[in-house]
Amino acid sequence: MMGTNKNIFASKVGAILAAAGSAVGLGNVWRFPTEVGSNGGAAFILIYVLFMLVLGVPIMVTEFAIGRYGGSDVTDAFQKMGGGCRGWKWMGLVPVVSGFLILSYYAVVAGWTLYYAYEALIGGFSGKTPEAFTNDFVAFSSDSLQPVFWMALIIAMTCGIVALGVQKGIERGAKIMMPLLFIFILVLVGCSLTLPNASLGLKFLFQPDFSKVTSSVILSAMGQAFFSLSVGLGCLCTYACYFRKDIDLMKDGLSVASIDTLVALFSGLIIFPAVYSIPGLQPDAGPSLVFITLPNVFQQVFGDIPWLAYLFSLIFYLLLVMAALTSSISMLEMSAAYFNKNLRMSRPMAAVVVSLVCLVLGTFCSLSFGDWKDVTLFDMGFFDLFDFLVAKLIMPIGGMLMCIFLGWVVDEKVLCAELTNNGTIRSPLYPTYRFIIRYLAPLCIFLIFANELGLFG
Ligand code: PHE
Repeated sequence: MMGTNKNIFASKVGAILAAAGSAVGLGNVWRFPTEVGSNGGAAFILIYVLFMLVLGVPIMVTEFAIGRYGGSDVTDAFQKMGGGCRGWKWMGLVPVVSGFLILSYYAVVAGWTLYYAYEALIGGFSGKTPEAFTNDFVAFSSDSLQPVFWMALIIAMTCGIVALGVQKGIERGAKIMMPLLFIFILVLVGCSLTLPNASLGLKFLFQPDFSKVTSSVILSAMGQAFFSLSVGLGCLCTYACYFRKDIDLMKDGLSVASIDTLVALFSGLIIFPAVYSIPGLQPDAGPSLVFITLPNVFQQVFGDIPWLAYLFSLIFYLLLVMAALTSSISMLEMSAAYFNKNLRMSRPMAAVVVSLVCLVLGTFCSLSFGDWKDVTLFDMGFFDLFDFLVAKLIMPIGGMLMCIFLGWVVDEKVLCAELTNNGTIRSPLYPTYRFIIRYLAPLCIFLIFANELGLFG
């Protein structure tokens, strides 16, 4: 079943944009500012960028190597890379299960963004008071029906694109949405930097205060780096199954990580100057920053020029929707590809089945903001539980296991051949990469966990 041509990204640019599309998402525009805001600003960013370089990029390259070497689907990829041993096939099921978990809660927030884009489009923000923004968001997110409806819409759009296939759906979607996303970001950064007190926002973003760094800040920075790059779950392994053999995996990994980091920083440049432009607002508003604080800011700062407030809000929420979509596509693909290839379901059928399961699980997550607020497991509602499982457990542990697998189990010749495209390209960073995946990354992840579990007293 080696991919027929239809199952390969047609161009190198398409492959980079698809992987960047998976990486750039709500993690950059919603989760990143939230985490920066609640973890003290610039010091958190520095630690996050360090994790990106030392752990994120090498694990991304690891996923690329496993996926492309396997060629067909992730479970086969692990088996093939593990020298044909069937036991490794099971490791390939991690992405399949994770796809369900992550899409189910991600789609809830993606649905909120779609609703906010709709509200922005119909001019629903104009003339609202700050209290109304808060009350409306709380009322909307805790409602049992409305958010589920918008989530279902996002899942349906995702399903439609995945059903169209690798080239006509995923690649074409990324080629259209990613450039638009960059344009939107640049327009918004330009506007935001001209706001009064923008310098306070810049200071918060770029002037580190290391007294704020605690072990939980470090764990959050690592979780954010993994989440933002989409690494650890095997998502990029799935995409790499569709990579052409002439792609330079190391170079692509660096390009995708650079795009992702830039978008996260630019989102900070849009959001924090805006927050500081109104005295009294705080950057640590948490997850509601983007849904309460910002629309309120847009109305207040551009209040005298209503069309600008309208346009700024609309572009901002459209940006969020597109960022969310290119990522949710990669999540659905993780599970749907397995159903398609291993359970003999057609691609559209596989996409629909996975979507329906995610819709049910997603409804549980959505309800945890309202009617099911008190339904908890380990003291967490469904939404928080899924986020904890994915971002704080599966991603780092999955990343560590993949490094150990490629660094210690897989024949070095196979790895070297994959990263140098069978010796046809030079890969000067290969020795550093191999050192990281054999020693540094597993040790680093282990130490952070051990510290978090209190093993060091
Ligand atoms: N990286 C995506 C984001 O920033 C989230 C994601 C995680 C996507 C894991 C796929 C797999 O929003």
